[in-house]
Amino acid sequence: MSETTPQYYQRHIFFCLNERTNGENCCAQHGAQQAFEHCKALVKQQGLAGAGKVRVNKSGCLDRCAGGPIAVVYPEGIWYSYVDIADIEEIVESHLKNGVVVERLLTPPELGR
Ligand code: FES
Repeated sequence: MSETTPQYYQRHIFFCLNERTNGENCCAQHGAQQAFEHCKALVKQQGLAGAGKVRVNKSGCLDRCAGGPIAVVYPEGIWYSYVDIADIEEIVESHLKNGVVVERLLTPPELGR
């Protein structure tokens, strides 16, 4: 893809919904499904969904479980550790809608699996 080729989505957010049944930590234990559904509904409700705009997708483990629950936004590659629905609303309004990263929710760089 050349530098001038438009991207199909302006922004793409992935929510890890991974669930582990062996007792290990996972995003599904921390409200990831509810956060994903709320984000999807909000993006749609605000008219942000679709080609040239925003896409909300579920994902498997993103291998940064220690910072979970995790969501990542592309093309910027910004990783978020959210806590509640208010955090999701802030990510939608600030980052997905207005392109302003929510600094307070950034996943600490040292947190991996
Ligand atoms: S279980 Fe969500 S990042 Fe691994």
